[in-house]
Amino acid sequence: MSSQKPIAVFDSGVGGISVLRELVKILPNEDFIYYGDSKNAPYGMKDKEEVRRLTVEAANYLFAQGAKGLVVACNTATSAAVRALREQFNVPIVGIEPAVKPAALQHLGGRILVMATPMTIREEKFHKLMERYESQATILPLPCPGLMDYVERGDLTSVEFQKYLEELLYEYSKNKVDAAVLGCTHYPFARDMIQKILGQEVAIYDGGEGTAREMRRRLEEAGLLNQQSCQGKVAFLNSLQDEKKIDLCVKLFNL
Ligand code: DGL
Repeated sequence: MSSQKPIAVFDSGVGGISVLRELVKILPNEDFIYYGDSKNAPYGMKDKEEVRRLTVEAANYLFAQGAKGLVVACNTATSAAVRALREQFNVPIVGIEPAVKPAALQHLGGRILVMATPMTIREEKFHKLMERYESQATILPLPCPGLMDYVERGDLTSVEFQKYLEELLYEYSKNKVDAAVLGCTHYPFARDMIQKILGQEVAIYDGGEGTAREMRRRLEEAGLLNQQSCQGKVAFLNSLQDEKKIDLCVKLFNL
């Protein structure tokens, strides 16, 4: 495997661009292929077997393009498929999970809201994560069906989106939490609105930066860091084959 090959970044849609932004900061000399499966989104409303099948298919496609490693920049796809991917492909593969660990350890005894897709919250992987930290803090899981759709449409600021979030978070805007974890990669694009509703004093966490650091570690270990000194390139692909989707990807990447 050549270190000059690109790193693949995969999500059910445009959300993983929040992770790609962190990857590019931490690995500026790498080339990236970002692939969103918007045609089959949302993954969070599907069952585990279907998400696993779609994720393995996407990985096959990306490795066929010559990727030297894969970031599964989707909490839902990670919980359904990361184990299967690691069994099948012998290259660095990094997934993302809700950042419960830093939130709980930095807010001992506090109330931690975890926003994620219905599937992520239903899955065993999340239950195990919760069990690990529930003696440190009160973990409050909140499934957010429909949230990703606003971001997927490129709607980051509408009154309708604002109302949806106010209703979703009503309980926690009254009974305050100490921290909120954005456990879906689409949600960082709604961070400012979420912050405003929950209150400016609430600490907000997402797993993007930790995931990017983990990928750097894994590439280093495998001797696969790109040695080129120029800025790497980023290519966007989407299963919808729609120019507007690619334009949205570029817009979110450059926010
Ligand atoms: N971006 C994905 C995640 O991190 C999920 C969105 C979806 O439901 O497809 O979980």
